[in-house]
Amino acid sequence: MSIPDEEVAQVRAATDLVALVSEHAALRQQGRRWVGLCPFHSEKTPSFSVNAQEGFYYCFGCQTSGDAITFVRATEHMDFADAVRFLAERAGIVLHETEEGTADHRRRGELLDAMARAVEWYHERLLSAPDAGRARDYLRSRGYDGVVVRRFQLGWAPDDWDALTRGLGLTAQVAIDSGLGFVNRAGRLQDSFRARVLFPIFDPSGRAVALGGRILPERAGAAASDARRRAEPKYKNSPETPVYSKRRTLYALNWAKHDIVATGEVVVCEGYTDVIGCFTAGIERAVATCGTALGEEHFRLLHNFGRRIVLAYDADQAGQSATARVYEWERRHDVDLRVAALPRGADPGDLARSDPEELRQAIASAVPFLQFRVSRALSQHDLSTPEGRAKAAKAALATVAEHPDPLVRDQYVMAVADATRLDPELLRAEAAAPASSATARTSGREAPAPRRRDATVPGRQGVAGVGRRRGSPAPVNRPGLEALRLAVHRPDLVADRLEDVLFADELQRRAFLALAGADSVRAAVDAADDDVADLLRRLCVEELALPDDPRADPSDSVVAQLAREAARKVLASRQAAARTGQADLADVAAETARVRRWIEELDEPARCREAADRLVAWLVGPPQEGPVREAPRTSTTEP
Ligand code: UTP
Ligand code: MN
Repeated sequence: MSIPDEEVAQVRAATDLVALVSEHAALRQQGRRWVGLCPFHSEKTPSFSVNAQEGFYYCFGCQTSGDAITFVRATEHMDFADAVRFLAERAGIVLHETEEGTADHRRRGELLDAMARAVEWYHERLLSAPDAGRARDYLRSRGYDGVVVRRFQLGWAPDDWDALTRGLGLTAQVAIDSGLGFVNRAGRLQDSFRARVLFPIFDPSGRAVALGGRILPERAGAAASDARRRAEPKYKNSPETPVYSKRRTLYALNWAKHDIVATGEVVVCEGYTDVIGCFTAGIERAVATCGTALGEEHFRLLHNFGRRIVLAYDADQAGQSATARVYEWERRHDVDLRVAALPRGADPGDLARSDPEELRQAIASAVPFLQFRVSRALSQHDLSTPEGRAKAAKAALATVAEHPDPLVRDQYVMAVADATRLDPELLRAEAAAPASSATARTSGREAPAPRRRDATVPGRQGVAGVGRRRGSPAPVNRPGLEALRLAVHRPDLVADRLEDVLFADELQRRAFLALAGADSVRAAVDAADDDVADLLRRLCVEELALPDDPRADPSDSVVAQLAREAARKVLASRQAAARTGQADLADVAAETARVRRWIEELDEPARCREAADRLVAWLVGPPQEGPVREAPRTSTTEP
């Protein structure tokens, strides 16, 4: 990090988040929050909220959350340091970038400079060097003419030990750090790429950051020296460097971004040659991952450019990118993932040459990811027999069950019922979410009416309930959320009363621990992982549900509810242990009676608070100590 932490904090504190956001979206005040239409996704009713005091925003529609710095990064397409500099300038703060920071900056500059010179050098070699003849022939045989070679800055790495590092006079340090060279076992600096056609990889603003190198196909009657190369991978790619992260890079985004923004669509391929094929077929919105699977960071990067992502993978590959996480990323980044129906075994690179029209058609008729998965599952079974149709239905429904939205699931259930001639009612049970079929089925029925149900709950609980975790199979633990909201907005009320054992929901428990371990919400967010930070920022923009009686302590009913739930669970597991002989029956019976009495006292206003705190103490204490610690207390209350 080039900017000292205190100065980053100072910049955050000096930035009026409401004023900043207002340059992109109209906000109006509502209670302690400011709300407006979300600048990150299109919507008709405002779900974007800002907590001016803490300096966080959260969108209940697309679940984006962050602070002034992430806002500038997203809206101005800047990296962290540039976003801080941008805000510092607005706030009139002079930054004192540390030595290490400027050194870091200088280092990156050096590496980018070396990459740029290397790309140029390799490109020149391909265009004019005598030893590049075979490479030129190979490219020509693939239909790449001079225009393509220049547009994509293709290069040739000669079959030489150190032609590049020597030619450019790279220092060992720069060669190694940029991934262009390495020191061999004899201690000599050597080029990383050798006898390969090179595909330079640029960042979105067009700076070269890495290279992908392909070997030439083997010559007929290859010489012995070629046998060595037969064991080498077809492609060799730059390693991760300070200027290159595979997870965050998409090949060709620098050229494709204009068309992606213009059409709102991006075509994602697996390989460099697929991208080039797409471009030559007139599809100038194609990118490729760089030897990794498509992941969350790619979604994060792409959603700034276009919201429809079309996978143009070989059909088998596309089917396998089948992680259930795809749906989570779609929701989190408000993008829509589709799959192009390519003929089996064909990649876009090949198709672009053999039948460009079919490639364009396949992309134009891409179908939603789930539809693609369901069709594939159905097609793998024999639909002409009852047994085959039953198997097909089971396989298809297993993929349907991965989708978090019950409304979407239900429509696919009906489509599967149609295709397999089975009763949709029978299939619904199969399609319920995997983790807990019972709750998923229930939520499926209730889904159309969340607003009505929420209307009976004061404050923002309703919206929170259908917020970020709406796709989770587990129902949202409302008292847990309310307790966290108190911990964020009124820590004074709950500081001594909450314990992590009260939170049945794992994410909520982690959020509680983050708050408990930090001296401000800001510090908790900074220290937390992404999921917890999202939740905390959301809580910051939510209103508290205050009790009807203004004199009542809002923490009472929340702690009571949590304690009741947690205590019941512990009792149930004690009883199970007693039944299987793992605990003494009499001890458990006595303990159960005592705890049940406290649980009953939760309903008596005069005793509720004390009973809740006792339950919490009991939950926290080690189980064996329960009866021992309890003994004196029992004797004083029952003389
Ligand atoms: P493919 O094997 O599908 O190659 O790898 P391709 O794109 O069709 O290339 P051509 O048409 O045969 O020339 C797809 C991508 O997977 C990565 C590369 O990024 C490549 O573009 N890959 C493949 C590697 O990183 N290493 C390998 O050995 C092979
Ligand atoms: Mn190919």
